[in-house]
Amino acid sequence: MKILVTGAAGFIGLHLCRALLARGDEVVGIDNLNDYYDVALKQARLDQLHPLRGFRFQRLDVADANQMLALFAAEHFDAVVHLAAQAGVRYSLQNPHSYTQANLVGMTSLLEACRHHPLKHLVFASSSSVYGRNAKVPFKETDPVDHPVSFYAATKRANELMAHSYAHLYGLPTTVLRFFTVYGPWGRPDMAPWIFSKAILAGEPIQVFNHGNLLRDFTYVDDIVGGVLGTLDAPPTAEESDGTRADMSFAPYRIMNIGNHQPVRLTDFISTLETALGVPAIKQYLPMQAGDVPATCADTTALTQLTGFSPSTPLALGLEQWVKWYRHYHQL
Ligand SMILES: NC(=O)c1ccc[n+]([C@@H]2O[C@H](COP(=O)([O-])OP(=O)(O)OC[C@H]3O[C@@H](n4cnc5c(N)ncnc54)[C@H](O)[C@@H]3O)[C@@H](O)[C@H]2O)c1
Repeated sequence: MKILVTGAAGFIGLHLCRALLARGDEVVGIDNLNDYYDVALKQARLDQLHPLRGFRFQRLDVADANQMLALFAAEHFDAVVHLAAQAGVRYSLQNPHSYTQANLVGMTSLLEACRHHPLKHLVFASSSSVYGRNAKVPFKETDPVDHPVSFYAATKRANELMAHSYAHLYGLPTTVLRFFTVYGPWGRPDMAPWIFSKAILAGEPIQVFNHGNLLRDFTYVDDIVGGVLGTLDAPPTAEESDGTRADMSFAPYRIMNIGNHQPVRLTDFISTLETALGVPAIKQYLPMQAGDVPATCADTTALTQLTGFSPSTPLALGLEQWVKWYRHYHQL
């Protein structure tokens, strides 16, 4: 298949492109290489991809509707995995406009390009953050998601709804995957593994929010990629939705959680990381941060039934891989 991966220079984009290429797919990667975090890291990820057979890259902003249409007209993609986004819960309190631009305008121009150049399947990366402060654990796809507690989550939920309208109007087979806290080599500098590792190795204190009383369903990136590949190969059909379902969808459209289904307490995450680093952390306990949620935990029954998804990387092993990469990348 010929697949477009948006956000190819990103953390998950790198791993997904590698996996697609390894199984023989042709991959066109796009990314605008913005400076939300160190552009050198994005370039270094692309350096991993450039030598691989079947990979091509174009620097492009998904929010540029004309360029997106031109790309789709030239390439005739079989499928798209849409990862490009302004990510991060906390930054959405500081710079909401970048979320509007990348996530809302970007999704609109992507959907328009898909409408005019039909595909077999669009897979879109949503987020567990759409569940907000859902108290019912584990989170199921049918749980209410009408009360986002960050603007990031609001844009991801909006993206899910925008994609549904295109699936309905234009028969665009679409799967929304709600990712649960992904970690692993080449991870993002704004996420806990990086922030904590950097501080611990520098002998500086780490900030432990909600006094460590947070639960996160940390999911190793290889497990996520396995689930994305399985999903990509199983586009939804309109027949699945017979109109009798509670959600009243008649579109070739699905939403599925993709997570580890084993939430870890933040304090346990930190002690596992300390072991992997071989260095104890200095902890500064703080209250809950605005926009954060106390717990995330994925019910992944739907994805498992569809694809056999079964995440297999224990946290200790995943963090070992993370630390190995982090030390190597920084020559520490
Ligand atoms: N990493 C996680 O834990 C996690 C959890 C939930 C959802 N997600 C979602 O998964 C996707 C990938 O996340 P990631 O962790 O790899 O993040 P990332 O920031 O590393 O990757 C996103 C990439 O998209 C690019 N991008 C941003 N705006 C763009 C635009 N307008 N045009 C083109 N490229 C643009 C960025 O330059 C970046 O390289 C995102 O949609 C994110 O919201 C990630």
